[in-house]
Amino acid sequence: MASSAEHVPLAIVGCGGMGRRHLRGFQALQRSDYNNCELIAVCDINRKNADDLADEAQELLGYRLRVWVDLPEMLRREDALKGVNITTEVSSHHTVAVACLEAGRDVQVEKPLGLTMRACNRIIDTAQRNGRLVSVGENLRRDPINRLARSLIDAGAIGTPQLIIDTKIGGGDHMVYTPWRHQKLSGTIALDEGIHHADLMMYYLGEPLSGFGEGRIYQPLRYRRPGGPARSLHAKWNEQYPAQFEATGEDAVLGQLRFANGAVGQWIGHHGAHGQPYHKRILYGSGGSLESQGERNGRPLTLWRAGAEAISDERILDFAPHYRLSPLAAQFFGGERVWSYDLPFDEADWRLIALEHHEFASCIATRTTPEVTGELGRRALAIVYCLFESGMLGRPVSIAEVEQMKVDRYQQEIDAHLALA
Ligand SMILES: NC(=O)c1ccc[n+]([C@@H]2O[C@H](COP(=O)([O-])OP(=O)(O)OC[C@H]3O[C@@H](n4cnc5c(N)ncnc54)[C@H](O)[C@@H]3O)[C@@H](O)[C@H]2O)c1
Repeated sequence: MASSAEHVPLAIVGCGGMGRRHLRGFQALQRSDYNNCELIAVCDINRKNADDLADEAQELLGYRLRVWVDLPEMLRREDALKGVNITTEVSSHHTVAVACLEAGRDVQVEKPLGLTMRACNRIIDTAQRNGRLVSVGENLRRDPINRLARSLIDAGAIGTPQLIIDTKIGGGDHMVYTPWRHQKLSGTIALDEGIHHADLMMYYLGEPLSGFGEGRIYQPLRYRRPGGPARSLHAKWNEQYPAQFEATGEDAVLGQLRFANGAVGQWIGHHGAHGQPYHKRILYGSGGSLESQGERNGRPLTLWRAGAEAISDERILDFAPHYRLSPLAAQFFGGERVWSYDLPFDEADWRLIALEHHEFASCIATRTTPEVTGELGRRALAIVYCLFESGMLGRPVSIAEVEQMKVDRYQQEIDAHLALA
């Protein structure tokens, strides 16, 4: 592809499952009317993963990407490179991000920003010292259904928000994508998946104050599912992983949260549960409630207003007068004021990632602040850790205590392992 002044040159570091999904996000953006970036290179310490992704780019983007296995060398030699998309496993986010930021590049880091508060601080402090941008890849809030939910809340459709119930129970004893997601020192599934819910609760309710709860390991042994996670771009590596292994990381986060606006959150994220899967997100306010059926499925919200019938069709738009998607999101999802959509899960996933790429490139070009800053990404992590730390201390823990690292007993072992202490 011919480079142009309006196309911001970017690279992907980390060519595993999420790297493959990010590539498809670039493809979706390239096919839209709003492309503003050009993917030029990929980097992975595993050469085969990097080579394979460059080959996939040949097919999906129509040109092959330059391949690097040594990040410092890529940063030295790719003169035009402006921003780096970091999709490595979580325990390496801070080392990769710091190298990029010190080399004068802006970064978009997949969630969670870092594995601990100290890891996040390394990234945020380095960005500040070098005048660089940090954007955190939180794709789920970009789903049009969540944009509509936020618009309804802002317009007072349910009155003053009072209570959110966020429950995701399921998972059984299967390995989720990779073994690293089940180890305390490399990332736990309760955190890796839970951080999406933490971000969404903040997106709906604003600033979190404190939490009382705990993390748990319900399923101490995990088993690789033969054939891998169905439909997933992660399945390609499945057979390389052990058939069975011990899990040292929490698979459940359980607790109650308080928000600065007075609302309370009741949160159960249980990824080692047997039996009936149970997913529910419902927000109650002084004048009604709003129920979501999750992301990337296009299913409509249900609005219940006191004394009126439930609405889960386009009449819901009457209560969100200011709801408008960006031009790119409108093109991807079928209009400016979408209340449901009909796309396969993967297609919706890649389009949400494309929205992240578009925003990142635009922030680089205009030096504007991204929607999910490093600070916001760190706060989502603090929500999860305030519950883990609370479980260790047996008392409520404030977000401020976690962010200021006055409470870090759970994280100390990880910080020591990552040489962050
Ligand atoms: N937003 C979402 O919906 C979503 C979904 C899945 C994963 N993720 C996030 O994406 C990230 C990656 O997850 P994944 O499932 O793709 O992991 P993965 O294990 O499939 O892939 C990680 C890749 O990074 C490479 N790598 C590791 N350390 C590196 C380093 N220092 N330099 C260069 N390459 C390195 C590995 O070789 C591997 O190819 C994680 O932060 C995860 O939480 C987000």
